Amino acid sequence: MIQPGPFFGRSVSVVDDLSLDEQWYLYTKTAQIKTTILQGGDLEAYRLGDKDLSVYLIFLEDSTRTKESFRNAALFHQATVSDFDAARSSVNKNESLIDTLKMLVGYSRRSIFVIRSKVEGVCRALEASIGDYCQVAGISPPSFINAGDGRHEHPSQEFLDEFSFLEHRGWKRDSLHIVLTGDLYFGRTVHSKADGLRVFHKVRVDLVAPPELGLPEFYHHKMLEAGFEVRLFTSIDNYLAQDDVADVWYFTRLQLERMGDDVLDKVSRLKHAVTVRTDHLDKLPALCKFFHPLPQNRIAPTIPDFVTPLSLNGWDEQSRNGYFTRITLIGMLSGVLGHDYLGPLSRHQLPADDFVQEVQVKPRAKSDGHKTGIKPVDDGIVIDHIGAGRQVDQVWKLLDKIRRNLQLDYLSSHGVFASVTSDVVKGLISIPDLPDLGFKKIKKLAALSPGCTLNIVRGKQVMRKYRLHMPPRIYNFAEISCRNENCISHPGQHEGVNAEFVRRGDGFVCRYCERPHTYDDIWTD
Ligand code: ASP
Ligand code: CP
Repeated sequence: MIQPGPFFGRSVSVVDDLSLDEQWYLYTKTAQIKTTILQGGDLEAYRLGDKDLSVYLIFLEDSTRTKESFRNAALFHQATVSDFDAARSSVNKNESLIDTLKMLVGYSRRSIFVIRSKVEGVCRALEASIGDYCQVAGISPPSFINAGDGRHEHPSQEFLDEFSFLEHRGWKRDSLHIVLTGDLYFGRTVHSKADGLRVFHKVRVDLVAPPELGLPEFYHHKMLEAGFEVRLFTSIDNYLAQDDVADVWYFTRLQLERMGDDVLDKVSRLKHAVTVRTDHLDKLPALCKFFHPLPQNRIAPTIPDFVTPLSLNGWDEQSRNGYFTRITLIGMLSGVLGHDYLGPLSRHQLPADDFVQEVQVKPRAKSDGHKTGIKPVDDGIVIDHIGAGRQVDQVWKLLDKIRRNLQLDYLSSHGVFASVTSDVVKGLISIPDLPDLGFKKIKKLAALSPGCTLNIVRGKQVMRKYRLHMPPRIYNFAEISCRNENCISHPGQHEGVNAEFVRRGDGFVCRYCERPHTYDDIWTD
């Protein structure tokens, strides 16, 4: 093969793994491929034609169209398709997914793994761990495509959905007014919309679902941050009682398999709120289209059968588009497509570990009132401003947590004091004869008590002073854990993936499943 294109070897765990320019490339290339296929034109320029590429279909949750469209898209490229038989594999002997993939990756010169799992963040974790393994083993690192992970995301579905909306809008990107209805809480295809819809310049989203099925706050917030105008309605009836009705409707199935008993008990009422009736039809705008990722529940579909033959039906064409968009996606990641992409390449980098700031040491008068009760150290370290601004009992708890987590079991003293300059309460730990804390402990200290200072004292003088800030990433600590039991990094998954959190806004998100956590949530004790 000639030099592979710029997307060669990339993975797609979430929609945002392709930048908007890259997504737009995918859509325009898909339009060319679709037209060429439908017109019976020459497809050679789009085809990889390499059986040394193995496309592994690893479906640990059921699927029809995602699996089959990926299979056919891989066959279009004349790749070797392997259908991993999860039900009869050593996954049933409790083998970890990481061990399974380590082995599969060695069977081909180059692999793309298409993975669906109820475990969230699988592809992100595999990308890191298998990537490292391949480097050591001298194997070409594979690409991973998330084909739906629990209630997190379904990026390749998002690409086909946006492609379908663009087709419907005649490729006008200026604006989109869309209804998202059904199960917005568990429906991963809706969650992916918070990023995917940004391909349109002005986006208005009407969320139509009863509160039990409402969009999680994280995605709602993401939409607002992206500048979308968002309105909420609890049922289709409520929505149609006002005049400003969107012409693009996106339905989702109630995800019964993910619901707890508390929600399952209410299913018929919830379903009623998001099911179309004949009397709704004359309240819809002209040229309105219904989209649905499918499957529909054939016993009680939210878009009933009477709608299927109507011009409202956008979902049949949408589902066919899965084949075309996935040809393009495999083509991009395998390197045959992308040579004509002119935009910048997105490089997702984890934020730098930038959390220690050296500050000037100000000379102080000897009688430092706020250190009352603590014997000054001649040589050693003093950690000051611990938990500054919290309640007294919280600062004591924090002192205890710091001492335990940093194993500061030295002869030393600590206490909670009022600052001399304000009413603020803060903690202080003073450790004689300890020259330094070491990088790992400093980082943990920054994560436990952002804003504290670390003073290095020599000959009764503060020689250096560092202010510690909340690190942009918190990882590599045994005392942190993702709260989402379905996350690949949750200890209950036994995948050996260490928890990692990335700062977002006022809190953190899990690097794998993106579940938001407050700062206190990430610590296990
Ligand atoms: N097939 C889509 C998914 O796997 C939608 C659904 O199952 O309701 O997320
Ligand atoms: N839309 C979708 O993902 O369908 P399947 O669950 O049938 O793959």
